[in-house]
Amino acid sequence: MIERQTLWSEFRQRYGRAPRLFRAPGRVNLIGEHTDYNGGFVLPMAIDLETVVAAAPRADQKVRVYSLNMNEGAEFDLENPGTPQRGMWLDYVEGVAHALLSSGMRVIGADLMISSDVLPGCGLSSSAALEVASGLALTGVAGEDVDPVQLALAGQQAEHTYVGTMCGIMDQLVSVLGRRGHALLIDCRTLEATPVPLDTKNIGVVVCNSMVRHELASSEYNVRRAECERGVELLQEALPGISKLRDVTSRDFEEHGGHLPEPIRRRCRHVVTENQRTLRAAASLRVGDLDEVGSLMNRSHESLRDDYEVSSAELDALVEIAQDCEGVLGSRMTGGGFGGSTVSLVHRTALEEVTRTISTAYEERTGITPKVFITEPGDGMQEVSRD
Ligand code: GLA
Repeated sequence: MIERQTLWSEFRQRYGRAPRLFRAPGRVNLIGEHTDYNGGFVLPMAIDLETVVAAAPRADQKVRVYSLNMNEGAEFDLENPGTPQRGMWLDYVEGVAHALLSSGMRVIGADLMISSDVLPGCGLSSSAALEVASGLALTGVAGEDVDPVQLALAGQQAEHTYVGTMCGIMDQLVSVLGRRGHALLIDCRTLEATPVPLDTKNIGVVVCNSMVRHELASSEYNVRRAECERGVELLQEALPGISKLRDVTSRDFEEHGGHLPEPIRRRCRHVVTENQRTLRAAASLRVGDLDEVGSLMNRSHESLRDDYEVSSAELDALVEIAQDCEGVLGSRMTGGGFGGSTVSLVHRTALEEVTRTISTAYEERTGITPKVFITEPGDGMQEVSRD
């Protein structure tokens, strides 16, 4: 958690005024990977890692931003958009400001200061947390009450235009709508989010950061997305009613999937089966069948590794180690892949032993010290006080 008082004081020192504070969390996805941009289902939860933006309005159209993580300041003008895709952190902030403006929201000049403990590259959605916290701050100081879904869409728009990643909507939606004690079952076609309680008395969620992120993450992500779209085009010849892989049932796939060229067939098989696993996992969570949730998570990992091919040697090692531990219900990679983190559901009584075993065994196998921590499902974005 970010020290609010420190951020508040740093802001006051730099800009000579008192700020308001706005936060947005990172997320971990329990199941439903690479389904969001296929119009399908996801089951993520907001976590206790967060980005906090301190903000105060200005009289002109400038937005000055200082990042405490980068120890660096930058600025942009709301009236003259800067060049998109500069490859820097400001792209996220400027991108969301312009996306909000073009969706009709009022945004005014402001001084911002950012502090975050969702670190980039860990696969826990540092970018969504930054977009959402910045968007909430910019609309907040302009006196606007932003609709959460509209803000999530503005964050996604920022990624598409200013950052250059064709991401889905999962990360931004869970960052705005997260609910303490719950995961969210999100229908990424209708954007409807249903909270599903997580039995945190009996189970813990363990996140393991592999500390490795491969360079191809962003380019391969866009390749996967294009492969899915191609899959839809080809399947439409036999199934004219479909517009996204979400519309393809397992029976449809059994009948027509065999005609698809590789690797498109396997990419589509992952999405079709992952949507079913996600719906089953949400239903099982609701009735407390945690063993079933765990085994669906394990199968999701296999499918991401073999069919979708977005895992990595390090993620596979973390998952194998976790799955071998007593008390682990299920384990899988989480997020876009090619590095980043894994998520495991673990019996509360085994938590300490499991986190210790994973750290030691991963280090023995790879020579890398992982970051292993236990997290709780937390709330989505909100304005917070400094104490
Ligand atoms: C990234 C994207 C999400 C989603 C996941 C994969 O986190 O930002 O939209 O596609 O990858 O499930």
